[in-house]
Amino acid sequence: MTPFNFNTSPSIRFGPGLLDQLGDIVKNEIGTRVLLVTDPGMMATGIVDRALAALNSAGVVVTLYQDVKADPPENVVTFCADAAVDSGAQGVVGLGGGSSLDVAKLAALLATGNQTLKDAYGVGNAKAPRLPLILVPTTSGTGSEVTPISIVTTGESEKMGVVSPVILPDIALLDPELTLGLPPHITAATGIDAMVHAIEAFASASPNNNPISRNLATEALRLMGAALETAVHTGADLSARSDMLLGSMMAGQAFANSPVAAVHALAYPLGGHFHVPHGLSNALVLPYVLRFNAEVAPEPYARMAPFAFPELGRIENEQERAMAFCESMAALSKRCGLQQTLREMDIPRDVLPRLASDAMNQTRLLVNNPRELTEADALNIYEAAW
Ligand SMILES: [Fe+2]
Repeated sequence: MTPFNFNTSPSIRFGPGLLDQLGDIVKNEIGTRVLLVTDPGMMATGIVDRALAALNSAGVVVTLYQDVKADPPENVVTFCADAAVDSGAQGVVGLGGGSSLDVAKLAALLATGNQTLKDAYGVGNAKAPRLPLILVPTTSGTGSEVTPISIVTTGESEKMGVVSPVILPDIALLDPELTLGLPPHITAATGIDAMVHAIEAFASASPNNNPISRNLATEALRLMGAALETAVHTGADLSARSDMLLGSMMAGQAFANSPVAAVHALAYPLGGHFHVPHGLSNALVLPYVLRFNAEVAPEPYARMAPFAFPELGRIENEQERAMAFCESMAALSKRCGLQQTLREMDIPRDVLPRLASDAMNQTRLLVNNPRELTEADALNIYEAAW
């Protein structure tokens, strides 16, 4: 067996209604003064009020940072870290989608004053200590609550990552009730993103692709393949919502240790230049990248196929089953009501070469792709997706 490392959050707490215990958990694990990191969209849902009520009733003094934006820029991260310092927070709680959790991770890191954001970019450059950290996801998508990754937008459109086990939270607190009110389109986009995490982790060419990640990925695909459409079309179904939240977390654990590849590499420029939400940008390039990979490396896709789509188990030929998996993922994205072309997103055709050139900068991800992908390949994929 090939040697590997596997890191995840040391404490994972899962259950409907768990948010109401946030105050006691913070008081026991962090102290009586915290920074709560969230975004304006969350403020409108009533979930932040519930979190504040739980914290206040346990006697925890909260400073609220509510200005997280999607694709968070560097100044959001530094303002948030300053808020942690200025308030004397003993720890940080992130509440929201991937952006809020990513900012919370970096605020906890930078608030100790050991290093600047620029010093932390890259793999393994974030240095302990950080403030104690609890992450509470409200979408079933990024898996950020169990990943050592934080993505920041630098300058106009470039993305930089901080990747280090130091920013894995102390506690991931998963309450599926928090996802009941997610609108269908966000449920769909974040759900497809989570499935992509499992798919890319399972097929990853990373030398650290490992049996724990692959098992988490297949179980995540089993849960989410069965639950995604129900969660999209019948949002109040707690069972489907629970399976999506658990599945997205497992996919997060999988790719945290067996990293994602070309789907994400080609998705990032769409977010950077056109602010296409992360999940949707993945969904837009997904079928084309999967077909490109499965043409020459069908084996992992053929193996994954029956977990997400049990009926595909009947296809015996490996190549056919792998290609059927690609088609089933594309059809699932469509049935979930997601946009299917770059054109629909008002992305002009003449920008595609620029996107292809930008995607090539995602070397951290492209090295994990099961098939080598050149700039010309990237352009072909964008053209097909247009
Ligand atoms: Fe993703």
